[in-house]
Amino acid sequence: MYRSHNCGELTTAHINTEVTLAGWVQKSRDKGFMIWVDLRDRYGITQLIFDEERSSKAILEQAKSLGREFVIQVKGTVIERASKNPKMKTGDIEILVSELTVLNQSLTPPFTIEDNTDGGEELRMQFRYLDIRRNPVRDSLIFRHKVTQQVRNYLSSGGFIEVETPYLIKSTPEGARDFVVPSRMNEGQFYALPQSPQTFKQLLMVGGMDKYFQIVKCFRDEDLRADRQPEFTQIDCEMAFVDQEDILNAFEGLTRHLLKEINGVEVDEFPRMTFDEAMQRYGNDKPDIRFGMEFGELNNIAQHKDFNVFNQAELVVGIAVPHGNSYSRKEIDKLVDWVKRPQVGALGMVYARCNEDGSYKSSVDKFYDQEDLAKWAEATGANPGDLICVLSGDTNKVRAQLSALRMELAERLGLRNPKEFAPLWVVDFPLLEWDEDTERYHAMHHPFTSPKPEQIELLKTDPGAVKANAYDLVLNGNEIGGGSIRIHDKATQALMFDYLGFTPEEAKAQFGFLMNAFEYGAPPHGGLAFGLDRLVAILGGQETIRDFIAFPKNNSGRDVMIDAPAPIDDNQLTELSLKLNINS
Ligand code: AMO
Repeated sequence: MYRSHNCGELTTAHINTEVTLAGWVQKSRDKGFMIWVDLRDRYGITQLIFDEERSSKAILEQAKSLGREFVIQVKGTVIERASKNPKMKTGDIEILVSELTVLNQSLTPPFTIEDNTDGGEELRMQFRYLDIRRNPVRDSLIFRHKVTQQVRNYLSSGGFIEVETPYLIKSTPEGARDFVVPSRMNEGQFYALPQSPQTFKQLLMVGGMDKYFQIVKCFRDEDLRADRQPEFTQIDCEMAFVDQEDILNAFEGLTRHLLKEINGVEVDEFPRMTFDEAMQRYGNDKPDIRFGMEFGELNNIAQHKDFNVFNQAELVVGIAVPHGNSYSRKEIDKLVDWVKRPQVGALGMVYARCNEDGSYKSSVDKFYDQEDLAKWAEATGANPGDLICVLSGDTNKVRAQLSALRMELAERLGLRNPKEFAPLWVVDFPLLEWDEDTERYHAMHHPFTSPKPEQIELLKTDPGAVKANAYDLVLNGNEIGGGSIRIHDKATQALMFDYLGFTPEEAKAQFGFLMNAFEYGAPPHGGLAFGLDRLVAILGGQETIRDFIAFPKNNSGRDVMIDAPAPIDDNQLTELSLKLNINS
């Protein structure tokens, strides 16, 4: 038996008990005649004591030779500490060690194994196994486990069956590039790793599985950000014989359950907002509704004066920054610089100070009088003491810019409280979105999403205006899930592929299996997938998903610990028919 107890459980109730503990040396303090060693495992820290009076000379010598992160096993007696540490669960006791075995030595770790380590991100990722010994990382992994366990329990008790679907498949378009895997046995051919199990879960519905879920890895070759990894995990779900309302209710139930069990938070029915409304009120399809600062459109009141910048703009729109009138001129100039950064891309920013006495002072006083500015204040909901920030330009661009400013200011003002949870359903997404680069429509969600049945005709005349039975679940300004009601008949699916620019032959080659399945009694169905990493991070009060993934990739998609991706040797390339013949 390596250990009788763990390092986090012993208290005064165990005094005089003989125990065996095993773990890592967190630190030791050597006073010459007395040595204390903090022994750490997953569960906590227990103090060990060796002293001249009570320990043998040999064991004292042994204890002196211990270095940080040595793995040791000790036998000893639980005794009461002379000076107690009320901050530690085990702070009232220590172990008088009678036997010490060094199970393994350790090099000095490249960073301290402390909550606030001195190790930078890259170094910690390179030695991730040491990073995982730190409390915050360990706690995040345990937290993730708790969330997945709750998800499995909740869905299983609701009659959902977890089914595994294959990883070596053919491309499933979810809007990113595929990672591909060459097939040795089929020369010149490639599998694609799934961007999601989308088509398989639909085939499971045709197979009569009725309620499916899977906690599943998905792979997308796309640019990485704090909330995106090239491989990530979904809680993927699908149901048959349901409409949108059934799906929203089912997964609102799951989310509410998680908020209650994991965070102890009870939330009311989730508000719903259409995509159009979200764009108009927040300039964003995943608005953070924990705070206000809603957009006020100013076209009617700010155009047709003599200010050409506004007159020429498609949209003039502003927000009120609470207590922003306290900003100095210099601070406002910095804000203007901030919106002009290439990442935001605004050409400039107009502002109006709302003075406490009800008067206004704007950066465009030449063009707008007090009465005009009062209308701006009304449209943006500004109160005396606030600052109105106004941007103008092309509707889509200016909304994105003002949304970025809104989020930045909210962050600075401390309005994004991670302990507060504001879920929101965004519904009625457009079916298609215009892509400037390829000059064609793309499916906004994916090509299996059903248009609103009453709008199918509109596809012929105004495809961009057609709305889909598609929805996203937003939590605190993050898209934590998305889904749709699917097309389940061959004719509509063929029509969709046609609108998306597939020839019938291409559609058959890529998705013939699904179209065929639709001819064998496909039930009406729909579903949704949560991004598990994002969900866990947000429930854990953070937005960087890397912290909740045991072995994440860096921003260049590399695993710096195992050094992947890496070249493969010539033999492997030849075997996979991938070796370039330079002479040919
Ligand atoms: P979607 O593409 O919206 O839908 O993905 C579902 C959710 O997965 C999360 N997500 C990611 N998380 C981390 N890193 C990424 N690179 C990443 N990409 C997406 C998001 C997102 O909301 N098959 C459909 C679902 C369906 O229609 O049922 C799908 O995959 O939180």
